[in-house]
Amino acid sequence: MPFRHGLETKIRVYHGDTLKGTRGPFDIFLAASGHVRLIIANMRVEMHIIATTPQSGLKDDTNFNEFFAESGFPYIPRNRRSLEVLLQDNQADGVVVWYSEGPVLYSGGGKFFFHPSMAKNRLGAYRKQGTEDPFVRACGIEDGDSVLDCTLGLGADAIVAAYFTPQGTVVGLESSRAIALVVKWGMKLYDSPMLWLKQAVNRIQVINSEHYQYLSNLPNNSFDIVYFDPMFRQPLLKSQPISPLRSLANPAPLDLRAIDQACRVARKRVVIKERSEGTELERLGCSTIISGKNRKIAFGVIQAG
Ligand SMILES: C[S@@+](CC[C@H](N)C(=O)[O-])C[C@H]1O[C@@H](n2cnc3c(N)ncnc32)[C@H](O)[C@@H]1O
Repeated sequence: MPFRHGLETKIRVYHGDTLKGTRGPFDIFLAASGHVRLIIANMRVEMHIIATTPQSGLKDDTNFNEFFAESGFPYIPRNRRSLEVLLQDNQADGVVVWYSEGPVLYSGGGKFFFHPSMAKNRLGAYRKQGTEDPFVRACGIEDGDSVLDCTLGLGADAIVAAYFTPQGTVVGLESSRAIALVVKWGMKLYDSPMLWLKQAVNRIQVINSEHYQYLSNLPNNSFDIVYFDPMFRQPLLKSQPISPLRSLANPAPLDLRAIDQACRVARKRVVIKERSEGTELERLGCSTIISGKNRKIAFGVIQAG
């Protein structure tokens, strides 16, 4: 359907729909929360997010000053108000509540915070039964490798990577500011009696950046492995742990220019996770395809050099 500047156009959109503008470039994205997002030339109009404390107030916590300074989210004193009232009074799309264990973002009726559950299950299966993780196989991670995860999200893949390269480095890029901040601070403050998990989580460096921009500024061969796991155009229904992230995430498909940059930056390989059906991995130039644990997903590999 053609969109014209200055003309009102009636459209019907469904959850997850992305409509390409013919005179764009712009996309309209309907999030699961029901919010409509306008994305202009890949630049999402940022959500208005405020920050506050729990009803019980802040305990002795020095991290929150650093978090608020870094986030730039306006601080709104709680004053016994409910989160709904705070959101309404400040016409905000979301509110971050600071807890000493890490920030929680409430938005569109959902709740988003860092938790390593998927990584914990995957690493637990490897530690208990030696179950091979297809992501690790596709990336060919060896200890000492440096891994650049270009689509960090909740960081499950980055945590698995960090576990398998304890002497290497893992850097995660995330273009959604809200996701990057919540995950960065959640990872930083993460504690667990399972030392192997805590150490893997705490070692990840989170950077709020769009990956093409970031890759373009890196020297040749500066990471061993460069990895992409973009949002699927149509979500897999069973992919529950990622659902709260969906309404905050950048839904754009991978750009071939980003893959070109990744091939320049990677010393060993570039790996892309995608749905196994369809032609996306071919479009992106992957020569080897490795099946995921769930047969609906696959990893495409491009050997560097
Ligand atoms: C499917 S999730 C990644 C899940 C992640 N692999 C995990 O294990 O939790 C994709 C994430 O990449 C982010 N993203 C999408 N396009 C991006 C881009 N161009 N630059 C940086 N991050 C991007 C999205 O906002 C989203 O959080």
